[in-house]
Amino acid sequence: MESVSCRIFVILLCCLCSNFSTATDTIKLSEPITDPQTITSDGRIFKLGFFTPGDKSSTKRYVGIWYNDPSETVVWVANRNKPLNDSSGVLTIAENGNLVIRSGGESEVIWSSQVSNSANGTKARLLDTGNLVLYDNATGTELWESFQEPGNTFLSGMRLSYNIRTGEKKVLTSWKSASDPSIGSFSVGVDALSLPEAFIWKDTHTHFRSGPWNKQDFIGVPNMIPFYLRGFNFEIDNQQGTGYLTFAFGVEPYSYFVLNTEGKLIEMYQANGTMNWVSLSSFPGNECDVYGRCGTFGKCDSRDTPICSCLRGFEPRNMKEWSKGNWSGGCARMTPLQCESSKNLTGEEGKPDGFLRYQSMKVPDFAERLSAIEDECEEVCLKNCSCIAFAYDAGIGCMIWSTELIDVQKFSSDGVDLYIRVAHSELGTRFIESF
Ligand SMILES: *[C@@H]1O[C@H](CO)[C@@H](O)[C@H](O)[C@H]1NC(C)=O
Ligand SMILES: *[C@@H]1O[C@H](CO)[C@@H](O)[C@H](O)[C@H]1NC(C)=O
Ligand SMILES: *[C@@H]1O[C@H](CO)[C@@H](O)[C@H](O)[C@H]1NC(C)=O
Ligand SMILES: *[C@@H]1O[C@H](CO)[C@@H](O)[C@H](O)[C@H]1NC(C)=O
Ligand SMILES: *[C@@H]1O[C@H](CO)[C@@H](O)[C@H](O)[C@H]1NC(C)=O
Ligand SMILES: *[C@@H]1O[C@H](CO)[C@@H](O)[C@H](O)[C@H]1NC(C)=O
Ligand SMILES: *[C@@H]1O[C@H](CO)[C@@H](O)[C@H](O)[C@H]1NC(C)=O
Repeated sequence: MESVSCRIFVILLCCLCSNFSTATDTIKLSEPITDPQTITSDGRIFKLGFFTPGDKSSTKRYVGIWYNDPSETVVWVANRNKPLNDSSGVLTIAENGNLVIRSGGESEVIWSSQVSNSANGTKARLLDTGNLVLYDNATGTELWESFQEPGNTFLSGMRLSYNIRTGEKKVLTSWKSASDPSIGSFSVGVDALSLPEAFIWKDTHTHFRSGPWNKQDFIGVPNMIPFYLRGFNFEIDNQQGTGYLTFAFGVEPYSYFVLNTEGKLIEMYQANGTMNWVSLSSFPGNECDVYGRCGTFGKCDSRDTPICSCLRGFEPRNMKEWSKGNWSGGCARMTPLQCESSKNLTGEEGKPDGFLRYQSMKVPDFAERLSAIEDECEEVCLKNCSCIAFAYDAGIGCMIWSTELIDVQKFSSDGVDLYIRVAHSELGTRFIESF
């Protein structure tokens, strides 16, 4: 009896010892990681090591970071475009200070952190945020971090960015498939043609847009307040010409966004004290969220059947295609605008254009911002024939549109009031669309 409990005690002690003596969160010159070794972040939240995604019969090996929980969700992959073909890989610090992956025998470097000046020696540490950071040994300066090379997962503390001057963007990129983490067709990032906005792109085309940022939320994503308020921020560094979308969530509860292989950005959430990840929301969330679903001057409402209709005063460009449910051709204006006419019109036709008001709308793409105050927004738009719609949001100001309206959606709540220019005869009794 005594010897049994003694043995259990010894085993326990050994377990504890081995946990404390060999479990490490750091890679040093003298301590590389060989497949299948791993390191674990200090609070045991993330692991870093070699893995095979999806189909486990594959011999392909990748170095990645995953949640240290039963889901083992991979959040970052180093050599995503260049797998190891066997388990001979080594993750180590190279003589030049870079963190590198070498494939066994040939000592070929298949991936590197590509830092230039690190003569003091370096070490890499996996943090509880899921960030892998390469430090200068002597000064502790950060030389490189995995957060600066986002994969398909947006973790708390990461930044997606654009630089207006250089055009450089930091984006999430989807995997090709569940077993192939190489770069797929979809990406998520931010841009600011005139207003900062988040996008999902399919190759070079827009697949989803969030609507402009109004300093609190994205106005094209309904129900974003108050939950998201805790998470997102948009910072603009005017000196560098760079805008950053940051996502910062407390350590508890956990949350992250992942861009899946079909181009859906999914928010995953783990309630405090549970091991289960649940999906909270995804973008695009419905058919109407898919960019330009109803073509130009079309309006999408997911509660309608069919979901697409033309804005009032507009009719399908191609009636035959439209009635078959092919809405890509969009709609065209029925009655020319008075302001566009070169003739001196008389009677009804000569009366000035007006605006139809739509409530709870996702504003169209390509907004321009004017400095006008709310009361002046309509007047300024009316005076300029190129202005075909306007909207006002307290956090943004006056927005106007002078290109064909695309990606217009009707929400059941939130959104903004959108005013669309039509000829006087289309106004009828002053029209307000509301539900
Ligand atoms: C794995 O095999 C492929 C195909 O033979 C080859 O192109 C690739 O370079 C190999 N990768 C490594 C790390 O040796
Ligand atoms: C190397 O260390 C020296 C002094 O400790 C420091 O001045 C220098 O900036 C360090 N180099 C890097 C790349 O951090
Ligand atoms: C880095 O610093 C540690 C002590 O903090 C030292 O043992 C190690 O040799 C140093 N490595 C290099 C490459 O200078
Ligand atoms: C999460 O749970 C732990 C104990 O299980 C508790 O100490 C902590 O305050 C909780 N955090 C939140 C945000 O509820
Ligand atoms: C949809 O309609 C457009 C014209 O509006 C046409 O060019 C296109 O080929 C149609 N697409 C399909 C799949 O029929
Ligand atoms: C329209 O009428 C106004 C005054 O009625 C006149 O001054 C102007 O020249 C006319 N314009 C055209 C294009 O006929
Ligand atoms: C009318 O609006 C267009 C588009 O915003 C703009 O380029 C143009 O300068 C405006 N014209 C006037 C007279 O304000």
